Amino acid sequence: MSETIHVAAGNEWWRNAVVYQVYPRSFADANGDGTGDVEGIRSRIPYLAQLGVNAIWMNPWYPSPLLDGGYDVADYRSIAPMFGTLDDAKRLIADAHDAGIRVIVDLVPNHTSWDHKWFVEAVAATPGSAARDRYIFRDGKGENGELPPTNWSSVFGGPAWSRCEDGQWYLHLFDISQPDLNWTNPEVRAEFCDIFRFWVDLGADGFRVDVSHGLIKDPDFPDVDLASEILTVGHIENHPHWDRDEVHEINREWRAVLDAKEVELGRELMMVAEAWVKPESVPLYLRPDEYHQSFNFDFLGCPWDVGQMRASINRALVDAASVGSSATWVLSNHDVVRHATRYGLPGGTDYQEWLMHGSPELCDHTLGVQRARAVTMMLLALPGSTYIYQGEELGLHEVHGLPHEVLDDPVWRRSEHTRKGRDGCRVPIPWTTAGSSFGFGSGGSWLPQPSDWGAQSVEAQDGVPGSVLELYRSALALRASSWVNSGDLTWVELDPYAIAFERNGYLCITNFGDSEIQLPDGDLLLASDNSADTTTIAANTTVWMRRP
Ligand code: GLC
Repeated sequence: MSETIHVAAGNEWWRNAVVYQVYPRSFADANGDGTGDVEGIRSRIPYLAQLGVNAIWMNPWYPSPLLDGGYDVADYRSIAPMFGTLDDAKRLIADAHDAGIRVIVDLVPNHTSWDHKWFVEAVAATPGSAARDRYIFRDGKGENGELPPTNWSSVFGGPAWSRCEDGQWYLHLFDISQPDLNWTNPEVRAEFCDIFRFWVDLGADGFRVDVSHGLIKDPDFPDVDLASEILTVGHIENHPHWDRDEVHEINREWRAVLDAKEVELGRELMMVAEAWVKPESVPLYLRPDEYHQSFNFDFLGCPWDVGQMRASINRALVDAASVGSSATWVLSNHDVVRHATRYGLPGGTDYQEWLMHGSPELCDHTLGVQRARAVTMMLLALPGSTYIYQGEELGLHEVHGLPHEVLDDPVWRRSEHTRKGRDGCRVPIPWTTAGSSFGFGSGGSWLPQPSDWGAQSVEAQDGVPGSVLELYRSALALRASSWVNSGDLTWVELDPYAIAFERNGYLCITNFGDSEIQLPDGDLLLASDNSADTTTIAANTTVWMRRP
């Protein structure tokens, strides 16, 4: 029995966009200091245009002590000197726009860096002062206030409170260098509305909002039963600091700012939430007066399992449409193990454990890439927008063997060296087959690249039929002319191990099983595995077809 899922109407650019995530430190280094920069990104706009993306999302590029890769922002209205200047950013945005690419900037409202002038002021001020009220300072428990105010833990490990010299404690749900802002403070609220306006005026088309589900804390500051972990946060009912109802008020305030700017400038703007919340909560963030989109982390977390993936897709489509939004699809980002690696590891692998103690051989690289190609094509055919993380278009794997001394992620520090963290997906990407840092820049690379990285480079894949890069290019081009705006989706029942659907005469079939599936009638447009013949769909393969 086939079933049709409706897609919400609307022609806004973000509804069907392919968004490419740029991690500025690791994309391209123009000045040869070993760290990527804005000029490097600007020099690669032709590459991004050729790839066929509609927008780029820039991970934080603000001045920062980089104690959490830039998510510790010291100044929200400037660019880190190591990345460039505000003028460089303006030039980048202008060049991207000229190439038909929109620009999304990353906004980090839950916390600032401890180098932010507000926090410096707060630490120097007295308990109860206006400066301290912009953050969350509390007296401790115990006879002399020597115990933290609550038992909350930092997402990166260790307690979520640190003590100042005068004895008060400040809250940091993440690193000790990332004090949480007080979102009940009117000055904090006004400041961020203004930061939104600042970047829109500079040319930004949208915002990716960091930890959007964490801004509001229970005013009673109760203890929590379970220590919260990254990727599982937001699943506890009435949690004291994740996914609290009051965050929606803030979402609405920001949406009103963007809506007003849209009218003023005549440009479509958007914001996408990073909200690690339970699936039932996601549509609440997507109501018409809140976020335009939210990352779909439920699908990202699915194992290689046809039933779970299909249920997750179905749910995301129905939920997004129920509030007039569009679904998002994302497989990798700067916080998770790259999906080519996840799909190549045995089901149930504990990734952090594997990175720490496991053998690299446990990952079947060929299988991982084959599955990654298949799932990517499936996602690109679905209604909604797809977020691509830099390097996945090269089939890059997580870098497994990073030596301890180069690890930079606060997860490594705060877990007392029991978890390596996220550096393995942040290694600078290879552009050329040989040479200094494989074309990343002339001055090496801030994280060491594997010696065989050149074989994965853009140069090695450019124009090579069947390469991952050429598959992405072909799929993006074909997607624009076939799937985009092709409307509702109808599930097609072909095989218990297939996910198959039709949209306006186009058919997408992914084979999750171990044996071949007979190709139905129609014209074969593209296959994720170029060894596929014209009568069957091999295991771990996706095909796009046109119905006769
Ligand atoms: C988000 C970011 C992550 C960062 C954290 C704290 O989850 O994606 O990289 O460490 O927020 O800002």
